[in-house]
Order: sequence, then structure tokens, then C-alpha cells
Amino acid sequence: MLRAMEEGARVLYREDAIQHRVRELAAEISRDYAGRDPILVSVLKGGAWFLSDLIKATTINCRVDFMSISSYGGAEESMGVVRILQDLDLDIGGHHVIMVEDIVDTGLTLSYLLSTLSSREPASLAVCALLDKSVRRIAPVEIRYRGFDCPDRFVVGYGLDHDERYRNLRCILQVEPEELGRDPLALVPYLDRPA
Ligand code: PRP
Repeated sequence: MLRAMEEGARVLYREDAIQHRVRELAAEISRDYAGRDPILVSVLKGGAWFLSDLIKATTINCRVDFMSISSYGGAEESMGVVRILQDLDLDIGGHHVIMVEDIVDTGLTLSYLLSTLSSREPASLAVCALLDKSVRRIAPVEIRYRGFDCPDRFVVGYGLDHDERYRNLRCILQVEPEELGRDPLALVPYLDRPA
């Protein structure tokens, strides 16, 4: 089974490709937001990995905050009905805000969150997403800073999970979820491989 899964998994984005793209996005954000003291907002849990690397690569004065949400729906597919479990600490009214997401799939989660945050009257509200699975989009959302246009495959690593595992992979793997469902530990050998 392990062998079959390893053959069924493919490195979609290597660690160096991710880090290079993150630095490019951080440079763009640093240019665009110089002197504007933005608040970068991450949605737990998956967005935290990307946000952490992104802010380390920015060169501007900025603040970070987190939201925790729960989607009513299946474990692997959001239905766009979102409950806020932990709200922002900061008052974003009158401030420039960048939502930082690991992946935008249907866009339903982000669309809901954008409308919630818009109602707090930030000075501006933009989106930075590492992966844009644009082919799956249901709710249109404008992604100002996009890392990669992601194919319509199940992906894990760099914050993205399967049943809470594999967020600590340094690369992003494309996998068959059915095979992982049968053997949830099948990708463990990837955790200590060069990424
Ligand atoms: C992912 C991602 C987005 C959402 C996108 O979170 O971080 O919040 O799915 O999906 P959508 O565009 O179809 O709405 P997930 O629900 O996997 O939770 P996690 O970050 O805790 O892993």
C-alpha cells in the first residue's frame, strides 16, 4: 500500500519554488503597501504557514491577526456557510487589510469572510492566496496576489492537510484522497525527504 501511494503522490510545488514565490509576493506587497501599515489576516489553520513565511519576507511595518472558522459541511469541501469561532483581536476599521489564504477553492469561504470584514469598513481589503484552484470557483473573488494557479487535484503540505496530517510537509504534494483514506499514514516517508 505504501509503495502504491508513494507512486500515486507527486510533488506539485517544491520547497524552493514555494519559498521563491513567497519572496516575490512579499516584495510586491512591500512595494504596494509601503507607508500604509497593513494588517495581514490569516485564516486558521492552513493559512498560518504561508503567513509566517510571507511576513518574514516583507520589509514594511505591518501587523498580523488570525481568525478561526468552521465550515458547515463536509470535511474536505466547504459549503460556504461559515461560523466564526475566533474573531480578530484588532479593529480593522480604517486600516488596510490583506487576507492571506493558503488556498482558494470554490471561493465560498473567502467570499463570506470578505463580506464580513468589509462591513467593518477597512480602508482597503485585498487577498493574497498561495494557491488558486480557479477551475473550481463558484463564488467570484478577486485575488490580487496569487502564488500559483493550482490544478484541480487534492493537495497536501505547507499548511494543507489531510485529516489534520501533513501540514508540516515543506513541499506541496498532489495525491489521491481515496488512497490516503485507505492508508492515512502513506505519506509519512515524504516528511523527512528533501523537498
Ligand atoms: C481551506 C482554506 C480555505 C478554504 C477554501 O481551509 O484555508 O479557508 O479551505 O475553500 P473554499 O474556497 O472552497 O471555500 P480548510 O477548510 O481546509 O481548513 P484548514 O485551513 O483548517 O485546513
